[in-house]
Amino acid sequence: MNPYHNANRTRWNAAAPKWKAMIDRRGTWKDIPNRPEMVFAPQEMKYFENISEKKIAVLGSGDNLAVLAFAGMGARVTSIDISEKQLENAGERARALNLDITFIQADVTDLSALPDNDFGLVYTGGHVAVWVSALQQYYNEAARILKPDGLFMVNEYHPFRRIWKKNTGRLEVEADYFSPGPFRYEYSNDILEPKAGGYPCYEFRWTVSSLIQAMLQAGCQLIEAAEFGTHVGDWEGAPLQGLPENLLLVGRKE
Ligand SMILES: C[S@@+](CC[C@H](N)C(=O)[O-])C[C@H]1O[C@@H](n2cnc3c(N)ncnc32)[C@H](O)[C@@H]1O
Repeated sequence: MNPYHNANRTRWNAAAPKWKAMIDRRGTWKDIPNRPEMVFAPQEMKYFENISEKKIAVLGSGDNLAVLAFAGMGARVTSIDISEKQLENAGERARALNLDITFIQADVTDLSALPDNDFGLVYTGGHVAVWVSALQQYYNEAARILKPDGLFMVNEYHPFRRIWKKNTGRLEVEADYFSPGPFRYEYSNDILEPKAGGYPCYEFRWTVSSLIQAMLQAGCQLIEAAEFGTHVGDWEGAPLQGLPENLLLVGRKE
């Protein structure tokens, strides 16, 4: 396995219990199958009008809130993540909600467990590309498993928010927008808490144009791009007001 991705997997496995506890404290995940608008922005919801019975793959499914929302809308969902611990937690939630979801542990750059031309929609994002060293391979795999005419939807944390030093009280560039990384960090078993000597992990910074280009190169026609969201969370550690929170790209497989 790609050594960067393997280290990231170890870190996500270590962080999974605290990540689960964080979502449990919010206490809203049980409502998501009936209220998908808690997870998806209006800019996304308009693509989900006829998804009952549609086959959907969610790549880098993480907390699986998008997966629960799609399943609640009647779609046949496959949830894919590199971390078996994240998937175990998601499996527990699916069982508690009586939802039939397929879970597959895989690296998004190698979806060989899945056939070509099978899904009507592939959905990914919310901080996935940042863990992936080979963006083009990731998007090629997404396009490969899509049926012709199927939609590839990426809703990522906006790249403009990713380049700043944390906790300096002002906007100070950590590394220039065009530096792709790898950036090595060490974290505790809490995904949001840096700790020297903790779990090493590797982040990659993709620019807006690199995400668009990768989608085009994968054989998808870009049908919409949108930037939205204004919320700044404490975890972001910098005064990011005025910078967009989300970058949505929607492609159609040619
Ligand atoms: C922050 S979550 C993003 C998804 C979701 N929006 C969330 O908030 O939980 C990141 C997820 O990406 C997964 N991940 C990281 N690298 C991956 C890779 N190469 N292939 C598949 N999943 C990966 C991690 O295991 C983690 O569950």
